[in-house]
Amino acid sequence: MRILAFETTCDETSAAVLEGRVLRSNAVFSQIKLHRKYSGVVPELASRAHLEKIPFVLKGALGAAGRPTPLRPGAFDAVAFSRGPGLPGALMVGRVAAETAAELCGVPLIGVNHLEGHLLACEFAGGRVSKPLRFPLLALIVSGGHTELWHARGYGDYKVLGRTRDDAAGEAFDKVAKLLGLPYPGGPSVEKEAARAKGQGPVFPRPYMEGTREFSFSGLKTAVSYYLAGRLGQDFYKRGLRLPPGERAQVCRSFQDAVAETLVRKAADAARSLGLTRIAVGGGVSANKALRAAFGKLDGFEVRFSEKDYCSDNAAMVALCALRRLEAGKFANSLKVSPELDRPGWR
Ligand SMILES: Nc1ncnc2c1ncn2[C@@H]1O[C@H](COP(=O)(O)OP(=O)(O)OP(=O)(O)O)[C@@H](O)[C@H]1O
Ligand SMILES: [Mg+2]
Repeated sequence: MRILAFETTCDETSAAVLEGRVLRSNAVFSQIKLHRKYSGVVPELASRAHLEKIPFVLKGALGAAGRPTPLRPGAFDAVAFSRGPGLPGALMVGRVAAETAAELCGVPLIGVNHLEGHLLACEFAGGRVSKPLRFPLLALIVSGGHTELWHARGYGDYKVLGRTRDDAAGEAFDKVAKLLGLPYPGGPSVEKEAARAKGQGPVFPRPYMEGTREFSFSGLKTAVSYYLAGRLGQDFYKRGLRLPPGERAQVCRSFQDAVAETLVRKAADAARSLGLTRIAVGGGVSANKALRAAFGKLDGFEVRFSEKDYCSDNAAMVALCALRRLEAGKFANSLKVSPELDRPGWR
């Protein structure tokens, strides 16, 4: 089975080729530099950059896979793309590229849920689909736009247990980094700073949202901004005032700890309440070492993460979602967009 896949939900343009269980290529063009000066993704710029880069990314993926041949019947068995959730203009670029490729190859077009991709990315090891997930499990998706808990009963059989009511965990990292004057994307910047922290720093509240499976990270972000206002003055941001480096590192570590503890406790509570002993964590924030270490301390659970290369957006995970659907024979009507986007499952 040969699958060509596209990913254009946000600020990475990616194309991948999966052949059987072997990932032949996974070309990714990141737009980080383009968006850095705005400290966040500018949707219109993202769409234009996808449009500009997708032919080259596709060419790169086909070349690296040893198939620089034209897209024609026999080249692939299916073409996949992330159908959402994502930025509307950005999604259109991946979709039209995938539709064109599927038409040229005369094969099925499979629109997959991007968040399912973040979960299934845990199955890649050493460039192969070699670590299949074992179900049932509790899935935690922690990315730039989403923080969700799912009860995953099998491939495509996902029940959303809870979501964030406001900011996603990754968004909170990005905004706190901006408040502290650290570069976008905030997650890696905050993690790097936090690793330098020494001594006791401030302690920020853990937004546990007791009694629910939902999340809320905007209050934690506000707690950081109140701390900064207390130290530097109300108008610190306008005046461009910054904490001394040692204290900034402490704030990063304290914020990161608060996010990690909250995610671990909520995921573990949800898993326990459902009698689940397996947890899988996906999405950009799952690259965070402090989060991985916090999950590592959990007793009684088998916790899976994806390899670092597959935590952020990539087309390899999209190809893998398509593979699971092809294996299950479930890929008709895959272009229906609503209300599927709210329900990641396809069973
Ligand atoms: N090491 C890290 N620690 C914490 N957060 C991180 C780390 N690396 C990346 N992130 C965060 O992950 C997010 C990007 O992840 P990802 O690419 O999965 O999100 P997205 O595709 O923009 O959103 P979504 O998947 O919800 O549509 C950013 O918010 C970024 O700051
Ligand atoms: Mg993503």
